[in-house]
Amino acid sequence: MRNHITDLPLKGKKVIVTAGGTKERIDPVRYITNDSSGKTGHAIAEAAWNKGADVVLITASSIPVPDRIQKVAVESAKEMHQAVLEHFETADSLIMSAAVSDYTPKTVAENKMKKTDSLSLEFEKNPDILKDMGSRKRADQCLVGFAAETEHIIEYAQSKLKEKNADMIVANDVGQKDRGFNVDNNEVTFITHTSEPIPIRLKKKTEIADDIVSWIVDFFKNN
Ligand code: CTP
Ligand code: CA
Repeated sequence: MRNHITDLPLKGKKVIVTAGGTKERIDPVRYITNDSSGKTGHAIAEAAWNKGADVVLITASSIPVPDRIQKVAVESAKEMHQAVLEHFETADSLIMSAAVSDYTPKTVAENKMKKTDSLSLEFEKNPDILKDMGSRKRADQCLVGFAAETEHIIEYAQSKLKEKNADMIVANDVGQKDRGFNVDNNEVTFITHTSEPIPIRLKKKTEIADDIVSWIVDFFKNN
């Protein structure tokens, strides 16, 4: 149940969240993916619902989704792109927490591939969903992306903020074992156009999700 003690600052707002690591098919039984669990995205969807939003969760993760959140199950980056496109125009905010595969196999084998002595696959680039939405964004829409980095974290995240026309990038150090991909905790930095980088100490992903949604609430207050 929504918390009736606090107000619902996102009432009437439509929030899209993407989550999980996309899966790029090689053949009918095999695919390439990454270590993203989808925990952060699912926690953000829940946090936005708790603040009153209508939430669409476009997810490549197998984490269960409660009925109060509209779930769109996707597998590949291209499917995720299509689903985001369908919802973006009517949305007030998009949070791209999915770990979208940068590449996809150039061809998908129709039948299960037989083993050979060695195997090379050719890949092509996937669409950049966040960048595409950044180019379509209206001034009243709030666009949040993530940056998964193992070095030069703040610097790389700052260039993603500009390059993708996002309002905030959540910079994420994915090179540490106790935080980030596939665990319950994370330590991140919020990179925005309006302030110095905001460090968010190591804490539960559910708490970081609340911080991200609170930042979005403030964005709507000021824009
Ligand atoms: N993203 C996206 N579509 C892609 C790749 C990434 O929408 N094809 C989004 C991610 O969901 C994330 C942000 O872009 O919100 C940054 O993703 P990241 O992998 O950190 O950066 P890239 O732009 O893909 O660059 P690189 O992997 O080279 O650092
Ligand atoms: Ca990438």
